[in-house]
Amino acid sequence: MSGVVPDLESLEVEARDAIAAANSPQQLVEVRASFLGRKGSISAQLRRIGELPDAERGVFGQAVNASKARVEAWVAERKRSLERAVQDQAIASRDLDVTLPSALPPRGRLHPVTRLEREMAQFFRGLGFSIEEGPEVETEYHCFEALNIPADHPARDLQDTFFVEGGHVLRTHTSPVQIRAMTGRQPPFRFIAPGRVYRHDYDATHSPMFHQIEGFLVDESTTFGDLKGILYSFARHLMGPDVELRFRAHYFPFTEPSAEMDFRWGDRWLEWGGCGMIHPKVLENCGIDPERYQGFAFGMGIDRAAMDRFGVPNIHLLFDGDMRVLEQI
Ligand code: PHE
Repeated sequence: MSGVVPDLESLEVEARDAIAAANSPQQLVEVRASFLGRKGSISAQLRRIGELPDAERGVFGQAVNASKARVEAWVAERKRSLERAVQDQAIASRDLDVTLPSALPPRGRLHPVTRLEREMAQFFRGLGFSIEEGPEVETEYHCFEALNIPADHPARDLQDTFFVEGGHVLRTHTSPVQIRAMTGRQPPFRFIAPGRVYRHDYDATHSPMFHQIEGFLVDESTTFGDLKGILYSFARHLMGPDVELRFRAHYFPFTEPSAEMDFRWGDRWLEWGGCGMIHPKVLENCGIDPERYQGFAFGMGIDRAAMDRFGVPNIHLLFDGDMRVLEQI
């Protein structure tokens, strides 16, 4: 026994050094085979059992097996640490710092026109107005007839209006909401109706889809002065106290008298919207007595005000959905 145990011990030391020196999982497999494989040097010790006297065979066999088990454990441990090193290196080569906080998903926000629309609604809420809505695909009755717009009026022309199959139109203005809100009710009313409208129109300040905010107030002693006062304070609230404004006499079939309101935009006037005293015929169409009640109405362009507010020179920049533009606003 004295001759064989030191042999086993030095083989173990050899194995431990070789395992520690293995620098890849592949090398480790080879090292393991050279000691523990079928032709490995430790396995070979078992074959010497036959040369030993009977009395020593059992002890020697146990010593070889214990030695194999220790070497097997070192191999397993080295294998784990090599695998960890491979992983660490993969992580390092990707410049990944797992201690960094994760990137936040980009946050969305409201479109500038929506923001301005809400700001406008807020102004009128402060004056006691509430919000009414109507459909964008509208009947010709609500869009034109009830508003006293005759069949030969240019607004009804094929050039201006988008017609929908089945006798409907895309509303060309928010004024049909006046009809929907007033029919079947009695004054006093204070309503606004912001929303999308559609016209066959295209240039730097016109888009086939745009936004208006309709407003109307009906009571027993409403005057044109009330209308003008409200629109002037509305404009100053939005565009600042120094904004230059002007009222121009105009014609609409559904108001009398009527006006258009412009604001100064650089070196030109920009038409902002129409307004006037609600025509007695319109009140009658809604079942309201025009001898007892008068009202005013207006329909202002939201996008025009957005161009002024956000310094956008072309209305289409607002609607093209180009994030590079919208992010600057
Ligand atoms: N509906 C008109 C337009 O779109 C504007 C308007 C609204 C005029 C209310 C008078 C009263 O041009």
